[in-house]
Amino acid sequence: MLINKMRTLIKVMFADGKGILAMDESNSTCNERFIELGIPATEENRRAWRELILTTPNLHQGIGGVILFDETVYQQQHHGAAFLQILRENNILFGIKVDKGLQSLALHPSEKVTSGLDGLRARLNTYAGLGAVFTKWRAAISITESLPTLACIETNADALARFAALSQEAGLVPVVEPEVMMSGTHNIERCQQVTTQFLLSVFRHLNQQEVVLEAIILKPNMILPGADCSMQADTDIIANKTIACLLETVPAAVPVIAFLSGGQSGDLASTRLNAMNLKDNRHANTPDGSINQQQTLPWQLAFSFSRAIQIPAIQVWSGVPERKKAAQDAIYRRVCDNQRARRGVYHQLPESPVGRAVTATQKQ
Ligand code: G3H
Repeated sequence: MLINKMRTLIKVMFADGKGILAMDESNSTCNERFIELGIPATEENRRAWRELILTTPNLHQGIGGVILFDETVYQQQHHGAAFLQILRENNILFGIKVDKGLQSLALHPSEKVTSGLDGLRARLNTYAGLGAVFTKWRAAISITESLPTLACIETNADALARFAALSQEAGLVPVVEPEVMMSGTHNIERCQQVTTQFLLSVFRHLNQQEVVLEAIILKPNMILPGADCSMQADTDIIANKTIACLLETVPAAVPVIAFLSGGQSGDLASTRLNAMNLKDNRHANTPDGSINQQQTLPWQLAFSFSRAIQIPAIQVWSGVPERKKAAQDAIYRRVCDNQRARRGVYHQLPESPVGRAVTATQKQ
């Protein structure tokens, strides 16, 4: 019963080309972004920024769900409605980041494991009582010449699976986020190899925990060369390698793969999502009406972006109240771009340069 409800919620959240807007930065990550832009790192500014995002006109047209950080759940408009009420009125579902961030992995000081399993069952029940319908847990793996270790991959995969099981037990759809990070000098083949190894491990652990795959959302990285790799890759190679990796690792039972943006610019993230959706014949049109030979992918390819939606807007806003409307326009534009990318009809506008990875602070 709960599982059927979760499956229906996933369908609703991703209907009509919609996706997820991640605005679940921890306070420290949010503050670091503010400091980079000269915005005072205060609770009031975090509230004002989140209010700006959530009151973006027509946000619901392209966003079916938002991921919140705990602090945001209890915030409200200045002299106005609670944020959760704004979401309800706009038919936007909400979820919560429930992990407690990255800790050093014991005996592996250069690697991280995600914490937050202690007390999770009680926290999940609290969030379910507040109306949350989904949850998110991020594991983050770095690539170097000698990393990641098997210990890091297995420990993080186990934690992701235990989170997902607890979340389904509470009736909340788990967003399972195994991120292989883009920072580093590694090439695209190495990213594919590590991501394949990690995803295979994640699904082995999910199966061991008897997580129902039909009621999860997978939130992986795209297959990309390291940000400092001298050999960058073109869109088609990235799309082909990402799809190949996912076909090898992700069971067809998973309904939706909603990518993280991982530090790609907004335009690049949309361009690459668009290219992948063009390879799915649900979206590809043949100009002469002939039969399309491209594959039909078993899962929907969607987005659950934070930086690729927020960064252009926060740069416009910069904490200046008079720039609120311009910043909301920037959010809405990125939302529409990603909705188009889900349908395979995104065309980058000439005036928005492609190619630059965003420098804004990595999420915690
Ligand atoms: O935890 C990561 C976010 O949910 C996605 O963030 O799109 O900036 O990688 P990103």
